[in-house]
Amino acid sequence: MTERTIRLTLKIWRQKSAAEKGRLETYHADNISSDMSFLEMIDVVNEQLALDDREPIAFDHDCREGICGMCGAVVNGRPHGPEKGTTLCQLHMRHFNNGDTIVIEPWRSRAFPIIKDLVVNRGALDTLIQSGGYISVNTGAAQEANTTLIPQEKSEAAMDAATCIGCGACVAACPNASAMLFVGAKVSHLGLLPQGRPEAARRALRMVRQMDQLGFGNCSNERECEAECPKEISITNIARLNREFLKAGFFSSSS
Ligand code: SF4
Ligand code: FES
Repeated sequence: MTERTIRLTLKIWRQKSAAEKGRLETYHADNISSDMSFLEMIDVVNEQLALDDREPIAFDHDCREGICGMCGAVVNGRPHGPEKGTTLCQLHMRHFNNGDTIVIEPWRSRAFPIIKDLVVNRGALDTLIQSGGYISVNTGAAQEANTTLIPQEKSEAAMDAATCIGCGACVAACPNASAMLFVGAKVSHLGLLPQGRPEAARRALRMVRQMDQLGFGNCSNERECEAECPKEISITNIARLNREFLKAGFFSSSS
């Protein structure tokens, strides 16, 4: 596709701190190349704001390659924007038209308080991981990988779940702000492999309890999380989480 330049009207959420009220402010972005990424487009806006001695827009990013999970904003009502299976840093401006108005807002969830502008505190996802998203088996030196045989369908499902980058878009997309897709992905990627099996049920129980304490909502099968996940994590992982959780509840009540 040949490069073109476009002019955009941006309505961007500005909020100085968690304690202050925020509002949408309007900016104009001229000469935006269709080859730029969405974050590069915000860089251009920020350069102009800095030249005008105005406060640049705060937004999260790191790798800009779709792997770290740091970026994320709601673009025209959709977490990570309109392209399926795409993080905000990998979204390109060729998907927008000259004259478009784009509304850019932070993730909205009680569990993700706004720090500034488009930056939210996603520490709740780290707390969830600390509650069970690990394996505690002590194996000593690393074993020869091929000595533990794993059926291919299980390793494929575990690796698919392991592509979750912890961006939080699933929470932002869910009308209940549930983190079930994120937790389901962790419970699958660890619990499907033999090394993570011994504590699979306990892991599910602890992570679900922690999720409730952190203020995430419940899953009501809306499937918005699956639709907006940039890594296309399947909701079958939520079904697996539910099965592990039920098993954990059975064992804890019968012991
Ligand atoms: S499940 Fe998808 S949307 Fe949720 S944190 Fe992982 S990668 Fe992001
Ligand atoms: S900046 Fe790393 S995934 Fe977007």
